[in-house]
Amino acid sequence: MDPNEAARTLEQELERGRELIGAARTLEALDEAKIALLGRKAPISAVQSSIGSLPGDARRELGRRTNEAFAELRSALEARRSELEEGAEDELLRADAVDVTLPGRRPRPGSLHPLTLVQERMVEIFTRMGYRVAEGPEIEDEWHNFEALNIPPDHPARTMKDSLYVDVPGLLLRTETSAVQIRTMESQDPPVYVVVPGRVYRREAVDATHLSVFHQLECLAVDEGLSLADLKGTLEAFAHEMFGPQIQARITPDYFPFVEPGAQMAVSCFVCNGVGCRVCGNGWLEQGGAGMVHPNVLENCGYDAERYTGFAFGLGIERVAMVRYGVNDMRLLVEGDVRFLEQFEGVA
Ligand code: DAH
Repeated sequence: MDPNEAARTLEQELERGRELIGAARTLEALDEAKIALLGRKAPISAVQSSIGSLPGDARRELGRRTNEAFAELRSALEARRSELEEGAEDELLRADAVDVTLPGRRPRPGSLHPLTLVQERMVEIFTRMGYRVAEGPEIEDEWHNFEALNIPPDHPARTMKDSLYVDVPGLLLRTETSAVQIRTMESQDPPVYVVVPGRVYRREAVDATHLSVFHQLECLAVDEGLSLADLKGTLEAFAHEMFGPQIQARITPDYFPFVEPGAQMAVSCFVCNGVGCRVCGNGWLEQGGAGMVHPNVLENCGYDAERYTGFAFGLGIERVAMVRYGVNDMRLLVEGDVRFLEQFEGVA
């Protein structure tokens, strides 16, 4: 290659190099430019290989200019490479950026189920009066669920219609927490003051005021000199604590084999205030059964029925919840519908 042509080529290559390098937007494009400018097939390489055949002075001159051109192209490539690398890093940082001023996304807090709220409140009211909490099994035997409660084998409450038996003969799902009255008296001497919250099971059609699996809070007091007045006073104190002073409580005669006399406890309707409406019918909402513990029951547990008397009652926790929260269909309490349950967030 003649020295003038070689010198022109170097000029052109420097010019082309500035353009190519400046136009490279990515590291890949820059690598391609480097190959085009400095690779084996690049024009500058042809200039370099022609140097050796030139005479002395011209050789030194072209050699120097070629080296300068190489150096300039290399440093331009290097400079562009750092620019692109920095840019790539900025890009990454921008994509990863966290805006610490954005408001956080809070997880929605859950809340206690209304039945849990009511049960805890009931237990609190009675423990403040001096009662202790007792428990018993949900799979119960016929002695504790029936026999000891003065419910003989031919009593209608025993039939398959009302009870859910399990595969083991003589065992059933307890139909009432009253069974724990017996377990408590069997395991301790009087005086007794216990409350028993728990789940019970019945073969019963489900409707707005009945479930086949529901909850009761049983109360048992056995001591010397307890009378019907103590029962009435206890129920009234409970009703006022639970529902407020505007709600009235009443007991009316009823029959349960394990109490004598037996009673039913009702409170005035939260909708109509005892007048009578679609929710309550006659102005009163049934809350459970009550009565003076039958002497047979005390004796079945080895207690001296001449010396001790007692009262007992069993409140339906679902029924208490309905009055406390103004729920007019018991099924709402077991369906687990979030639109219903979320209304109890922050409720006591
Ligand atoms: N166990 C009864 C029921 O489930 C309710 C009941 C009635 C409980 C009278 C009592 C009582 O303690 O004395 O229907």
